[in-house]
Amino acid sequence: MHNEQIFVKPSLTHRELLSFEKMLLHQITKFFSNSYFRNYYPSSFTFPVSSNNNNNKNEIFDFRSDTVTTPTEEMFEAMVKASRGDDVFEDDHSTKELEAYVAHLTGYKSALMTVSGTMANQLAIRSHLLQPPHSILCDYRSHIYTYEAGGIAYHSQAQVIPLQPKNNIHLTFGEISSNIILSDDVHFAPTRVISLENTLNGLILPLSEIKNISDVARKKGIKMHLDGARIWNASAETEIALNSYGEYFDSMSLCFSKSLGAPIGSALVGNEKFIKKARHLRKLFGGGWRQSGLLAAAAKLAIESNFPQKLKETHELARKLSEGLSKHGIIITDPVHTNMVFIDTAAVNITIKKLAESLALHGIRIFDNDGTITRLVVHYQITPQAIAKFVQVAGEIVKKNE
Ligand SMILES: Cc1ncc(COP(=O)(O)O)c(C=O)c1O
Repeated sequence: MHNEQIFVKPSLTHRELLSFEKMLLHQITKFFSNSYFRNYYPSSFTFPVSSNNNNNKNEIFDFRSDTVTTPTEEMFEAMVKASRGDDVFEDDHSTKELEAYVAHLTGYKSALMTVSGTMANQLAIRSHLLQPPHSILCDYRSHIYTYEAGGIAYHSQAQVIPLQPKNNIHLTFGEISSNIILSDDVHFAPTRVISLENTLNGLILPLSEIKNISDVARKKGIKMHLDGARIWNASAETEIALNSYGEYFDSMSLCFSKSLGAPIGSALVGNEKFIKKARHLRKLFGGGWRQSGLLAAAAKLAIESNFPQKLKETHELARKLSEGLSKHGIIITDPVHTNMVFIDTAAVNITIKKLAESLALHGIRIFDNDGTITRLVVHYQITPQAIAKFVQVAGEIVKKNE
């Protein structure tokens, strides 16, 4: 399906239709037997082609991530109506409209739409920094440090100082302030950026902590960046407006393609000078895009349709899931603040692989492994029925295993 195109003639005979169907099946089988998918699909179960699309009979409820949401019919309709200008020429109305909207929501002057959250974060850090020696403080679990392929070293030549929060939930003002380096001693790389993440593993970083960290950063001339891929969830849950979070940072990245459910895209927000620099660097990164309007239109619709109410509902479902699993003896390893549930099945003596295989028979997909720990993510295309089924199936295998 990746490299061969399929053309359907305007009118097909019955025989042609049968052979077209056969060819389609062959393509689908090929696609699903590649090694990437084999890693995630239990061998005993063949998932149908559809995923979270509510219009499809063969629904799959995919708890691996909130990035797996599929575009809705309404998004396709918005895409058709989007403007078709060239964004490198800054000519595209829908892209500009989305950028202005996100800037407004977060209380910033300017915004830049990017292809991914990784690109938005890396552009932010590169735009804040001038030249080495320099360092960045962040949580050791943060996406910018752990999951961006070493991008900070590559793009910004910066040392990252990862900190482990003592409370295992979020970094505190004390932990950050005691690790700031201001010295011009030649042995050290001075702190130039503090990068926070909210939510991180679904956990909310309290505004009061952010405020204290920001106050000290501002006094010391250190830039504050927020990886707000899921700041939407934090804001929906706490009912603290996005622009109240925005006050304490110099830049924020926000993802449209995670909990909000848009197919592609993120935004970086900041002041005009900062975004101008990020736009220039985006081109250097190869991320200048042309007719981006259709993606911007889908992203704007995703915000308008899902933020904040649908996100709040996903948090409620995540809590239901954690309560249900916990009743069956499965340990919930972290508090459930928003849409993520971390589980450990060691106490009930089953592996995640075994759980995944049983769930797969009911069209429920999770990240599997041979161990006992995994992450479950609830998104707006997961229904209350899927949560109930998940809990029921988990209960059945726990019982069988007793
Ligand atoms: C907190 C966080 N930040 C940034 C990203 C990067 O987003 P992308 O996959 O669009 O590059 C992710 C991806 O899951 C994320 O979870």
